[in-house]
Amino acid sequence: MKIACIGGGPAGLYFGILMKKADPSSEVVILERNAPGETFGWGVVFSDETLEYLERNDRETHEEITRTFAHWEAIDVHYRGGCIRSGGHGFSGISRRKLLDILTRRAMALGVDIRFRTEVDDFESLDAFRQADLVVAADGVNSKVRARHADVFRPHLDVRTSKYIWLGTTKLFDAFQFIFEENEDGLFQVHGYRFDRDTSTFIVECDPESWTKAGLDRASTEESIAYLERVFARHLDGHRLLPNRSAWVNFVTVKNATWRHGNMVLMGDAAHTAHFSIGSGTKMAMEDSIALAVALARHPRLDDALDAYEAERHPIVLRTQKAAQDSYAWFEGSKRYLGHEPLTFAMSLLSRSKRIGYENLKLRDPGFIERATEDFAARCTVLAEHGDRGREPSPPPMFMPFSLRGLTLQNRVVVSSMCMYSAKDGMVDDFHLVHLGSRAMGGAGLVMTEMTDVSREGRITPGCAGMYRDEHVTAWKRIVDFVHGHSRAAIGLQIAHAGRKGSTKLSWEGMEEPLEDGNWPLISASPIPYTPRSQVPREMDRGDMDRVKADFVRAARMAEDAGFDWLEVHMAHGYLLSSFLSPLCNVRKDAYGGSLEHRMRYPLEVLEAVREVWAKDKPLSVRISATDWHDRGFTGDDAIVLSRALKERGTDIVNVSTGQTSIYAQPVYGRMYQTPYADRIRNEAKVPTMTAGNITTADQVNTILIAGRADLCILARPHLRNPHWTLFAAEEQGYTDLAWPDPYEAVKPRPK
Ligand SMILES: Cc1cc2nc3c(=O)[nH]c(=O)nc-3n(C[C@H](O)[C@H](O)[C@H](O)COP(=O)(O)OP(=O)(O)OC[C@H]3O[C@@H](n4cnc5c(N)ncnc54)[C@H](O)[C@@H]3O)c2cc1C
Ligand SMILES: Cc1cc2nc3c(=O)[nH]c(=O)nc-3n(C[C@H](O)[C@H](O)[C@H](O)COP(=O)(O)O)c2cc1C
Repeated sequence: MKIACIGGGPAGLYFGILMKKADPSSEVVILERNAPGETFGWGVVFSDETLEYLERNDRETHEEITRTFAHWEAIDVHYRGGCIRSGGHGFSGISRRKLLDILTRRAMALGVDIRFRTEVDDFESLDAFRQADLVVAADGVNSKVRARHADVFRPHLDVRTSKYIWLGTTKLFDAFQFIFEENEDGLFQVHGYRFDRDTSTFIVECDPESWTKAGLDRASTEESIAYLERVFARHLDGHRLLPNRSAWVNFVTVKNATWRHGNMVLMGDAAHTAHFSIGSGTKMAMEDSIALAVALARHPRLDDALDAYEAERHPIVLRTQKAAQDSYAWFEGSKRYLGHEPLTFAMSLLSRSKRIGYENLKLRDPGFIERATEDFAARCTVLAEHGDRGREPSPPPMFMPFSLRGLTLQNRVVVSSMCMYSAKDGMVDDFHLVHLGSRAMGGAGLVMTEMTDVSREGRITPGCAGMYRDEHVTAWKRIVDFVHGHSRAAIGLQIAHAGRKGSTKLSWEGMEEPLEDGNWPLISASPIPYTPRSQVPREMDRGDMDRVKADFVRAARMAEDAGFDWLEVHMAHGYLLSSFLSPLCNVRKDAYGGSLEHRMRYPLEVLEAVREVWAKDKPLSVRISATDWHDRGFTGDDAIVLSRALKERGTDIVNVSTGQTSIYAQPVYGRMYQTPYADRIRNEAKVPTMTAGNITTADQVNTILIAGRADLCILARPHLRNPHWTLFAAEEQGYTDLAWPDPYEAVKPRPK
């Protein structure tokens, strides 16, 4: 086989090695614009796992790499003048130049034809390409091949906001360094690690405001270095910062719709990039080489081989890019975490890409997690009130009590609101008693009722629960009394009006489908139906607004009469109050539409009226959709503004959900997918938050809490599957202080 490869970086060189190893008769030509030993950057990191992978594929290069690399186990987080160390991470650093030397020598020894100082421009006119069976574009992040065939590859280039510069230093770090230094210009952060006997990588990153304020937008590389040496003097101990073709740039995340075009294929950075903060670019490039070489060996037809290569690698790369996205988002927004205590800050940083969490860190460095858990407990004032626990270790974060106003929850797990569509004219009955009662006995700190409507015409379906008739108070009180009498859980009522999403069938008879008969008229912020099949709602006038507000107030009073501990106003998921907030369904021309300030006006008015009558010693939460997942919709930035306004009007905690406001939304699901919104609101708007959305494990709950992303974790579907989710979570963690219902005492796990 004849192979022409543009680019002699890690991808191209390693691919050449593997192809010549597999079939010495194959012809591999690599065209590289640089001279040997000439490259940008300093060191790169490999995880222990990547090194094992390389060992399996080419022992010779692995041996050479491991002979020269620097290995470390710990990560240091320098923050507020102190340093927090966490161990057990297992990474190696190697000089990029040395890595390329090793790969070049090995490739040449195997007979790869490397033509240095060859800039490929008009590659289709070159003989090497015309004669090649396979053309590999391993020409890096600015790939010319990709640009030339952009119509086929359909690249998506996402230029990130932060500025970074890749420097080196002779200061030898004995652990991976994350350094955060604040000065009068802003915040400057470093990703640093040693990669050989006498050099460390020192990548400095900062937000564009800090960069401009410091004058770095006008500074030469030398002037930038002089400035950064002053900022990081404490960490450099007199060592200099060194450039290597270094300049301030923005990271670009590269994605392509497809990686192949005829006999041409993209590989490495040309195909995809992942932010340097997860140190995976070189690893991904070399893994591509391995996958392509294996696919070519397995499939006699080139087409099949290229398809197999892309089918294997593309999904893996997208997962890594998702982790990288979470990671760069953390660094881009790191200013919002500057109020954290050092251990919370470190936990937030270490768990940023969801690849490492509470349990995994416990395995890596039990002492670190013990310190972080103790620190979390020490700041939990309620626990302190409960007296000195002596030498006993603190409970896992999820089992720390949580107080708001006069209420203390025994732990931080919440059963989410879930419509059951099993009521009759709003009346809850035995079903709801058993459903909510069993979840309360399951150990959660707070059980939320389903969306409970403030009027008959405010229901989603004929089966929705209500709080609008006197009998409703009695029916709810029976459930509240059961919960109080037979569990330690608190119980909260979620009150709502369905707005334009009302008058539909029970979910299992046709979700969002209008009723066959007996439909009632709908109201909303604007006369826009939810789906093309939905009824067109009437735009609310001031009279409607007053009436609905009064319904909310009445429901709040009734909640108090029924003995609820907690009240939640539902402003999420496209229901009535949410329909005012979202610009997708509020196109009003009056004082309640238009700007965000105007769109918030009516929901805030309702909130104020409810807070006015709701008991002063009981918490009030508001559920919001923090994004519409729509490019013209309500955004995470809007959610910050809204949350501040909610807090000013007496909201104690924001229940952060997302979406369900438009059928044209493009939500991005994943583990804990809504938690970044709760994190932003908690740490940017400084409002306590509860987070929901694909949280399924105790490890996730503990990680979210200890990293300061939210104050409470809400689980919906896991509680449908298992009402005793919290009791099981305690058992799984060996935590025996959680109260079990007395009649179940016999099976309660005992301390070992
Ligand atoms: C600041 C920073 C830090 C990083 N840290 C790490 C890390 O710690 N760990 C890690 O795994 N990865 C890291 N990376 C990523 C890593 O550098 C890249 O992912 C990796 O080099 C990709 O290899 P590649 O072979 O695809 O591309 P490259 O290494 O960019 O190689 C492409 C080659 O093609 C050549 N070329 C390009 N165009 C032409 C042309 N027209 N004609 C001839 N030759 C051409 C170039 O000269 C170059 O040699 C980092 C990246 C950055 C920016
Ligand atoms: C059956 C069901 C009914 C729901 N009903 C409500 C509701 O009444 N009010 C509400 O705010 N959210 C409701 N939701 C959304 C959940 O409260 C929760 O936010 C969502 O399911 C994400 O959490 P999870 O991934 O743990 O299920 C409902 C979800 C389910 C599965």
